[in-house]
Amino acid sequence: MRVWIVKDYEEMSKKAADVVAELVSRKPGCVLGLATGSTPEGLYRELVRRHKEEGLDFSKVKTFNLDEYYGLPGSHPQSYRYFMNEKLFNGLNIRKENTFVPDGTVPVKEIEKFCKKYEERIKKAGGIDLQVLGIGGDGHIAFNEPGSSLSSRTRLVALNEQTIKDNSRFFKSIDEVPRYALSMGVGTILEARELLFLANGEKKAEVVAKALEGPVTSSITASAIQLHQRVTVILDEGAASRLTRASFYKFAAEAEKKIGIDLF
Ligand code: PGA
Repeated sequence: MRVWIVKDYEEMSKKAADVVAELVSRKPGCVLGLATGSTPEGLYRELVRRHKEEGLDFSKVKTFNLDEYYGLPGSHPQSYRYFMNEKLFNGLNIRKENTFVPDGTVPVKEIEKFCKKYEERIKKAGGIDLQVLGIGGDGHIAFNEPGSSLSSRTRLVALNEQTIKDNSRFFKSIDEVPRYALSMGVGTILEARELLFLANGEKKAEVVAKALEGPVTSSITASAIQLHQRVTVILDEGAASRLTRASFYKFAAEAEKKIGIDLF
């Protein structure tokens, strides 16, 4: 795992955009795994800018999102499909039919089949080249709440109290926050060829330290990224403030620049 500690949210977003843009330029038909939330918004803004101002080409790119609220149609302003269209896809030359977000309106009886198909689609597309991840206040990646199996697959999940509270900031009242979601599993996420893990702000510092430097545990599903061979973590100073190995990460990041080889 390589950990880059940067000054602030803007620098985190730019560095993350560098990683994505490098892949898109090198492999124009790549498959991106995408996340929603406040964390990747700056990354998406920067990608739209690079498309508009520098011609970064997304015409052959495919994307798969991590999750979607169960019960919300894509036309709902708080749905993740809506978020992705607004914050990213509408600003790029990506083909909408190449963007996949789980469908929150699948009837209960068809959920299992739908989730299986979502996974098959990922495989058919060649697998995810780079998966963008944020971390929830409870340590989740995607909606894999504490206790989710580390080999879980795409499925219907129940949201825990903290997530409902955290996400209520986007809704008129907490009662409107969906209680369920369709989410890629931890096992699904770990199959991506590379992970790009982002976090910002002091509020995330403690849970980030647990995820990166604590034991691998289903109690903090983000800790499962320790099992992956190619992970780039980008943190701002606030999110990195509780790490015990920060000076080592800085040393390794400097060395990486000097040598010119990725030091995972
Ligand atoms: P956030 O959400 O980026 O809005 O903090 C992260 C998450 O819940 O995964």
